[in-house]
Amino acid sequence: MKTHYQTLPVTHPTGEYNVIVGEDLLPNLLELARINGPFVVVTDTNVGPLHAHKIEGALAVVTVPAGEENKTLETVRTIYDQLFAAGLDRKGTLVALGGGVVGDMTGFVAASYMRGIDFVQCPTTLLSMVDASVGGKTGVDMPQGKNLIGAFKQPTAVIADLSTFQTLPPEEFASGMAEVVKHGLLANEELLQRLESGNWKLHPDNQSLIFNLQSLVTDAIQVKRDVVQEDPFEHGIRATLNLGHTFGHAIEQVSGYTVRHGEGVAMGMVAAANLSARLEECDPALQLRIEKVLENVGLPTRIPSHLDAEEMYHYMGSDKKKAAGMMRFVLIHDVGDAFVQGNVAKEDVLAAITAVQE
Ligand SMILES: NC(=O)c1ccc[n+]([C@@H]2O[C@H](COP(=O)([O-])OP(=O)(O)OC[C@H]3O[C@@H](n4cnc5c(N)ncnc54)[C@H](O)[C@@H]3O)[C@@H](O)[C@H]2O)c1
Ligand SMILES: [Zn+2]
Repeated sequence: MKTHYQTLPVTHPTGEYNVIVGEDLLPNLLELARINGPFVVVTDTNVGPLHAHKIEGALAVVTVPAGEENKTLETVRTIYDQLFAAGLDRKGTLVALGGGVVGDMTGFVAASYMRGIDFVQCPTTLLSMVDASVGGKTGVDMPQGKNLIGAFKQPTAVIADLSTFQTLPPEEFASGMAEVVKHGLLANEELLQRLESGNWKLHPDNQSLIFNLQSLVTDAIQVKRDVVQEDPFEHGIRATLNLGHTFGHAIEQVSGYTVRHGEGVAMGMVAAANLSARLEECDPALQLRIEKVLENVGLPTRIPSHLDAEEMYHYMGSDKKKAAGMMRFVLIHDVGDAFVQGNVAKEDVLAAITAVQE
């Protein structure tokens, strides 16, 4: 095989698999992912027309409508129907080709179709490469909230083909960078420094820069890999992967989802650093460092002023915990040292939001 790629083994409670990161991997998918039986590709209406043709030999290609609003049980049901129609049996394999929406939904189908069949992740967004495709969480949204129905289901391989970025909208790429920054903050100072120096940029004509992107993606995946290996079912340290996410989800919700996930997480990490400094858990300079690196990768650092702080607070955590004065947050002492803090007072949360508003 001509392509140059990096392999990252992941172990989990019931086995192990490889994450493979490189260019032009999809044409060699069967070999790389060791698929030797019938398989069906599940993709969405954006990714399918652009990339599904690179995978040869599928029994069928199931195309679902793109977008988070379609990450539902209704869509899952249509996938089951098409798998039955294609004649896929329990020896078959599902290949998820797309972003986190396709990955989460296909994983859930793989966990439940005929009580479970193999599945391979082919993430095509930066976010799904460095975050969603590794760790075994799968599922769908409900009207009651995001990701409320799901299962732990490990893939048999993750094939991250960087060439798919050539069609990824720049704002989606930037959104994924929020999780890369997060992983640098959580556990890899060197990764953070590379983002600060700006030598990561995607440049289709320059192999060396693409190589930087490959190692950047691999390093970011490695942080998630190490965390989920240590705590596969989120009893402890895995919760720190939610750095910036309590604020971020609330920002997304109150904005009516006009703020993207990565943008919300970016603003949320700034707010989390502000809250950490406010509670004397970190040096106030850390917030500025985070702001700079986020600006470098094209992400916002201020919560829009028209979003109401009280309303955001309303969407954070469960009401029961808040009533008991036990609001939990992921805070940060320094790069490489995030932790979960219970009992954060409402006034401090509101003050942190206001401090980082436009
Ligand atoms: N399972 C987990 O651990 C985990 C972790 C983080 C996020 N998630 C989930 O991931 C989802 C978000 O993932 P996402 O950001 O990848 O969103 P997404 O799957 O909606 O993809 C974003 C958009 O980009 C399009 N797209 C994807 N790849 C493309 C490509 N190469 N070229 C052109 N267009 C492309 C998609 O069609 C979509 O419109 C959420 O549902 C979130 O809950 C899951
Ligand atoms: Zn996230």
